[in-house]
Amino acid sequence: MTSRILFVDHSAVLGGGELSLRDISRHYRETSTVLLLSDGPFRELLESEGVRVQIVHAGSSLLTARRDGSGRSVAAAAELAKLTWKLARIAGQFDLLYANSQKAFVVSALAGRLACRPVIWHLRDILSDAHFGHGNIRLVTTLANLCATRVIANSQATASAFIAQRGREAKVRVIHNGIDGAEFARVTESEALEVRHQLGLGNRRLVGVFGRFHPWKGQHVALEVLARLPDAHGLFVGAALFGEEDYAAHVRRRARELGLEHRVHFLGFRRDLPQLMRAVDLVLHTAEAPEPFGRVIVEGMLAARPVVAARAGGALEIVREGVTGLLVPPGDVDAFAAAVAGLLADPARRAALGAAAYERASREFSLDAMLRGVADEIAAVAGNRPK
Ligand code: UDP
Ligand code: GLC
Repeated sequence: MTSRILFVDHSAVLGGGELSLRDISRHYRETSTVLLLSDGPFRELLESEGVRVQIVHAGSSLLTARRDGSGRSVAAAAELAKLTWKLARIAGQFDLLYANSQKAFVVSALAGRLACRPVIWHLRDILSDAHFGHGNIRLVTTLANLCATRVIANSQATASAFIAQRGREAKVRVIHNGIDGAEFARVTESEALEVRHQLGLGNRRLVGVFGRFHPWKGQHVALEVLARLPDAHGLFVGAALFGEEDYAAHVRRRARELGLEHRVHFLGFRRDLPQLMRAVDLVLHTAEAPEPFGRVIVEGMLAARPVVAARAGGALEIVREGVTGLLVPPGDVDAFAAAVAGLLADPARRAALGAAAYERASREFSLDAMLRGVADEIAAVAGNRPK
């Protein structure tokens, strides 16, 4: 029997976690619903693909609770109680809860208890001081140990951080993101050339930096790298999704200070990443803190482009160093510049790495493999549900 799943996410923007949930939830759309704690483009995307969506607005103090936990005021506690109660009533119509973000997990863990429904937490963050406050980490690991039936980690790096924070290892399964390669395979040479044409780039060397703007994603590092490569252009694709507009403005300002405005192109958030990735010579990923997984790394590989990434987090599990791309110590601008310059000067090597990257990404990070992994966990959890 197909399980009725209530997927829960606090966010309705198009982040990597949400795009991955889109792939999972549409597979279960006949029987399941995605419950969002805010409204936005993610709802529209899901509905356009026939996924049922329900919005239950979380109060603002819950959604904006600060990383050090100090935002968890009395108001937030009252909102949490109200939301938990609402969610528990809805959860009664489903077989299990599947939380896709930390905030969603906190509410789902409590609601699952009230409604006697098992909870899967798809953990997509590295729980470390670089990203989260101590209180926050304690809260979610304690709730996971008490209330989650399974914790699906998006990488070994994410799983290890959870376990290092005393999350229970027996609950953890690692399932890498799988990405649909079809959209990448469909891109034609002329579409990629058109991107270059519109930017007036001809056959200039072009480095692509893809991802939402955030200080830990390290767009500022990528700028410094480009400043050391006078012949290269840079394509920056992505926007601030979670309120980091000041950082995005800082990066643009820094580009001007470095005199890069004529060779750095900020395109904002785009939905045509396959075409854009096929237009660049290589993908640069300069995260300063470990990337939990890094979908854009796999996507660059599906576009048959070598990826030069920071040697940390999920990138270590995705990139085969020297075979599909290059890894560089995080934040080491000189080492990044040397790696990128070497590849830009060597088309044959780029082609060889790109071909190996494509092969590895399609084999190891397929959508089917991810869906099979998730289905196994759902079956195991639903099968154990107390009657
Ligand atoms: N993305 C997009 N448009 C953009 C920038 C990013 O559609 O302008 C997508 C990208 O294709 C990827 C996701 O956003 O699937 C980002 O996921 P990733 O795991 O790299 O990072 P996250 O934002 O989840 O930390
Ligand atoms: C999160 C992480 C990112 C990961 C994505 C999908 O947003 O920041 O590294 O790829 O989730 O699991």
